[in-house]
Amino acid sequence: MTDTAVPATTAASVAATAASATTPSTADLAVYRGLFQSMTGYDDTMADADGAVPLQTIKTLQKRVAAFHLSYKFAIDELTTKIEILQEEFEHTHDYSPIEHVRTRLKSMDSIIEKVQRIGCPPDVENVRARIRDIAGVRITCAFVADAYWVADMLMAQADLEVLEIKDYIAHPKPNGYQSLHLIVTVPVFLSDHTELVPVEIQLRTIAMDFWASLEHKIYYKYDRDVPAALVAELTEAADAARALDAKMARLREQIRGAEGAPPAPIVHSAPA
Ligand code: GTP
Ligand code: MG
Repeated sequence: MTDTAVPATTAASVAATAASATTPSTADLAVYRGLFQSMTGYDDTMADADGAVPLQTIKTLQKRVAAFHLSYKFAIDELTTKIEILQEEFEHTHDYSPIEHVRTRLKSMDSIIEKVQRIGCPPDVENVRARIRDIAGVRITCAFVADAYWVADMLMAQADLEVLEIKDYIAHPKPNGYQSLHLIVTVPVFLSDHTELVPVEIQLRTIAMDFWASLEHKIYYKYDRDVPAALVAELTEAADAARALDAKMARLREQIRGAEGAPPAPIVHSAPA
């Protein structure tokens, strides 16, 4: 294969090309450069005498960037299987599904860069792996609050998952009304020559909580995080309405089905840090 040279004078410009389609700011660029070098082992000797980086080298470097994301993808795959097993078994036993839907996402390089800057994390792989624990994300939406706790309890009881953190925003909603149960767990990923314990953020919520959170998220970004006070007040009211709906649905379910067949009562979680 012909090794076409692409003009590039610094690691930063290679990093920017590999990691983002948008034009990064100078501050972004420094973080990109640090992370990119740490992920790929790039140094300036990989460029030609005239400063151009051969295409084949760029491909190799891009592959190393992709490898960074791979273990997080595998952790999501492992967790998705666990969730599907719980769901199928419960449906088989109780003729009812505690899980409405599951969504997964891998944090993009741009979002990682944004968080590195926001939390003041040194831009290298070791620190990013240790401090950014939501690169792999799984969101489980349930019909009822008790189901969200039930699924969380079942996952936390699994011997190969280690629970690093529990934030119960259902028992302790955020001031804006946000509710969800957040877990950070590590999932063992068995690779050909070693095992990695990969952190995954699991968010469990009801349909009503999810409806509220997705609307609030859109409004938050529409107003560039500076939401007018009147709208904030309305959102908080809407969160109260979502909470009331969840409580009413739980009461209705109790009336229809009785206590029999209902998932076990939720365990009590600590307040969010
Ligand atoms: P991030 O750095 O944003 O991940 O937050 P954090 O590390 O302080 O963790 P936290 O548990 O508070 O939030 C993690 C995730 O929960 C966020 O990335 C969102 O997906 C979701 N979340 C938290 N608070 C809110 C909120 O007020 N509104 C919405 N829509 N989502 C939220
Ligand atoms: Mg997050």
